[in-house]
Order: sequence, then C-alpha cells, then structure tokens
Amino acid sequence: MSHVWFITGTSSGLGKAMAEQVLMHDDTRVYGIGRRHTIVHENYLPINIDLSDLAVLKQFVFPSLEAQTIVLFNNAGRLGEIAYCGNLDNEDIIQSYTVNTIAPHLFCNQFIAQYQAADAKKIIINITSGAAKTVYDGWGVYGAGKAALDMFTQSIAAEQQKINATNKILAYAIAPGVMQTAMQDQIRNTEAVNFSQQQKFKDLYQNNKLYHPEDVARWFWHFVQSCDSQQETVQRINL
Ligand SMILES: NC(=O)c1ccc[n+]([C@@H]2O[C@H](COP(=O)([O-])OP(=O)(O)OC[C@H]3O[C@@H](n4cnc5c(N)ncnc54)[C@H](OP(=O)(O)O)[C@@H]3O)[C@@H](O)[C@H]2O)c1
Repeated sequence: MSHVWFITGTSSGLGKAMAEQVLMHDDTRVYGIGRRHTIVHENYLPINIDLSDLAVLKQFVFPSLEAQTIVLFNNAGRLGEIAYCGNLDNEDIIQSYTVNTIAPHLFCNQFIAQYQAADAKKIIINITSGAAKTVYDGWGVYGAGKAALDMFTQSIAAEQQKINATNKILAYAIAPGVMQTAMQDQIRNTEAVNFSQQQKFKDLYQNNKLYHPEDVARWFWHFVQSCDSQQETVQRINL
C-alpha cells in the first residue's frame, strides 16, 4: 500500500471519521489501534489494545513495511471523571494519563524507532485540546495530560530538525476544535457542580456550533497531503 495510517481510537468520533476518510482514497491502509472496532473494510486492519493497559503498550512494536506515506494519528482520548482534585478516583487519574499521554508517547517512540530510516513521508499527528492551554475546573487530569502531549510533540519536532535531513519525521500536536462526539455528550451530561463552564458547551451544542468529525477528518487528510517542516508544531483547527 502507498499510504499507511496508524489511527488510535477508531471506534467512534474523530478516529472513526479519520479512518473512513483515509479509506475513501485509493491505495490506502488503516491500522486501527484500540479496544473496540466498528469499521469493516478490506483495507482496515484492527489491532486490539486497551490503551490503558501499560503491560500491553510496553510490548507494542510497529510492523516493518514499505509505503510512500506513513502516518501515526494519536487520537484516542478520554476526559475521565469530571471532578475537582480531592474528589478524584486514583485509578481514573492513572487511566487518563495512560490513554491521553503515556500511550501516545510510547507510540511516538516506537514509530520513530521503526520508521526513522524509511524512505517515505512520515508524519506524527497527536490530537491535543484547547484544555492544554486553558484551565477548565474539573478537567485537571485531561488538561495536564494534553499539555504534556504538546510539550513532547514539540521536543520530537525539535529533535527531528537536528537529525539527518533526508529522514526527518514531521510531528504536530493539533487541537481539532469542539466536535460533536461522545466526549461532548459526556461534558453536557456531567453535573454542573463539577464543571462551572458547562453552559458554554451546552450553548455551542444548542447553537449548532460543534464541528462535525467528518469535516475535521477531511481537514486532516488535506493537511497530511501538504504539511512540511515550516508549519507550527502546535496548532488549532479553524474550519
Ligand atoms: N470532542 C471534542 O470536542 C474534542 C475537543 C478537543 C479535543 N478532542 C480530542 O479528540 C480526540 C478524539 O475524541 P472524540 O471527541 O472523537 O471522542 P470519542 O468519540 O469519545 O472517541 C474517543 C476514542 O478513544 C478511544 N479510547 C478511549 N479510551 C480507550 C482505551 N482505554 N483503549 C482504547 N481506546 C480508547 C475510544 O474507544 P472506546 O470506544 O473503546 O472507548 C474512542 O474510539 C481525543 O484525543 C480528544 O481528547 C476532542
């Protein structure tokens, strides 16, 4: 296959829309990495992993392959429990950091190890959030995990600038904007006492201001066709 994408969390929302967008095109293959798979397509290959399972994550290696383009799309994420620090469940904190931060960092590490020398266009896209930069009460674990993701993505981009020019890997952390997915359902359905800014997200929903994941996925497809090392590493989509 000419264009190979590794996408985490393809069961719903942006990950599913991204996988479907890629599979619309000729000569593409998607490896869907996650614990649930809802896509049936001859070029979709499921890799069953619970991304909160550290023991499994530590064993993961990317397959050796030849392609023109190889993309790692670290999309899977969880808000986790929306609650103030002091009322959080320890296990939930650990799960969120593992899914949102440790898993994508391990995947980046393995991706670079496996494909650094490959003769292909190689791109890492880590899905971040406005919560990496703005404080939302009740979302401390989520925001901190995404802020760490922004920073390690910037480190990778800086490291790649310093190494052999012909084999660089492009790395970005991109916030997709507020999208109509299961994550937004959770935000609107949480108890307002745990999240003082809930009304803002209810208003966005009621005023039809949420992005459709299919439109965001189309943006990412075009981004991958044209991105280069001149682009900002951390950015936010404006459709
Ligand atoms: N929606 C928004 O407004 C918004 C805004 C900014 C950033 N984002 C980011 O966008 C990305 C996609 O989120 P979404 O809005 O599309 O939410 P979503 O519909 O809830 O999708 C989340 C995906 O992550 C997977 N996932 C979560 N925990 C997992 C685990 N332990 N193991 C394997 N897979 C797991 C889910 O799989 P399961 O079905 O197995 O749970 C699902 O496929 C996330 O990184 C999120 O932080 C979203």
